[in-house]
Amino acid sequence: MTRLVLLGAGLIGREHAKLVAAHPDVTLVAVADPAPAARDYAEANGVGYFADYEAMLDATRPDGAIVALPNQLHLPAGLACIRLGIACLMEKPVADTIAAARELAEASEASGVPVLVGHHRRHSPDIGEARRLVRDGVLGELVTVNGMCLFNKNADYFDAAWRREPGGGPLLINLIHDIDSLRFICGEIDAVQAFTSSAARGFAVEDTASVTLRFASGALGTFVISDSVVSPWSWEFTSGQALYFPTQPGAYLFLGGRTASLSVSDMKLWRHAKPDGDWRDPVKLQVQPLPPTHAYDNQLEHFLAVIARTAPALITARDGMMTLATTLAIAEAARSGNRIDVPGFLAAH
Ligand SMILES: NC(=O)c1ccc[n+]([C@@H]2O[C@H](COP(=O)([O-])OP(=O)(O)OC[C@H]3O[C@@H](n4cnc5c(N)ncnc54)[C@H](O)[C@@H]3O)[C@@H](O)[C@H]2O)c1
Repeated sequence: MTRLVLLGAGLIGREHAKLVAAHPDVTLVAVADPAPAARDYAEANGVGYFADYEAMLDATRPDGAIVALPNQLHLPAGLACIRLGIACLMEKPVADTIAAARELAEASEASGVPVLVGHHRRHSPDIGEARRLVRDGVLGELVTVNGMCLFNKNADYFDAAWRREPGGGPLLINLIHDIDSLRFICGEIDAVQAFTSSAARGFAVEDTASVTLRFASGALGTFVISDSVVSPWSWEFTSGQALYFPTQPGAYLFLGGRTASLSVSDMKLWRHAKPDGDWRDPVKLQVQPLPPTHAYDNQLEHFLAVIARTAPALITARDGMMTLATTLAIAEAARSGNRIDVPGFLAAH
């Protein structure tokens, strides 16, 4: 039986706890969270309770730790796990700044204690299959990438003041997931440009952004994101894999290659019937089948392999740092109006 602890029994922490409770080979030993509601939660669920996570790690010495704390606590909590040799599943973003992410990555690499970053979409069947098709060359050379993350957030979501201020908007909260998926499927993004708008909701933070991406492979991409649009075009809906949202089968991402094109999550693969076809010839549709697995279950299963040291972390702290840096570069591009080269931006932070 693998013994896990949970740092932070808030919104996503409790989802992790549910997944752990449903797994036959894993037990949740304790939670650490100073909030009174977390003490009640621990009591109601019959797990140990600590206000302080260092005290919990020390007393319980678990096999693994799930870190679902506010972003600024990711670095100290990750370092505390590493000091005790405890593998952790670190919720995204890996840390609140690039410098903090780098420090965590270096500590993990120097100690050999793994950090798995919780970009759960990488464990989703549609994202995995899209990566495979691109990497195996089924699309030919990748030329274009075009994606959308468009949804209509509930009004009371914005009751928390930080969600109305710069930094609390869809670029850093939502787009970071898409950037991670794009890096996973298509490879590194080396330059970005962006516009933002706050016209739909009128808050200080952006509600909408358009982003232009240049991939290291040479492929070019565009992505639009908004928390103020009624639409079915976002991974949350199309994948059927998200925790809190309805499923709306369809596509949110379109990958264009020299020999075929693919839409995700409906996995429609289009290519000419004849190998040397061109725009005068019809394209034929083939739907790629997906395994009937679930991203969060797959993530937990993978974390168990990481804990057992039978698999390297699919998303290391350094990998999470690249996703964070690319997303922050987009925010900087929008703020400054400049094109931002991601490697230079990373080096400067
Ligand atoms: N992967 C996803 O889809 C996803 C979804 C939501 C949130 N997240 C990430 O998960 C993390 C937590 O987000 P959330 O929405 O659950 O936040 P939340 O505010 O609901 O929960 C955070 C919890 O941490 C507790 N906490 C604060 N300081 C603490 C400390 N010093 N020690 C122990 N506990 C402490 C709080 O009391 C709270 O219960 C964030 O990094 C967020 O970006 C990821």
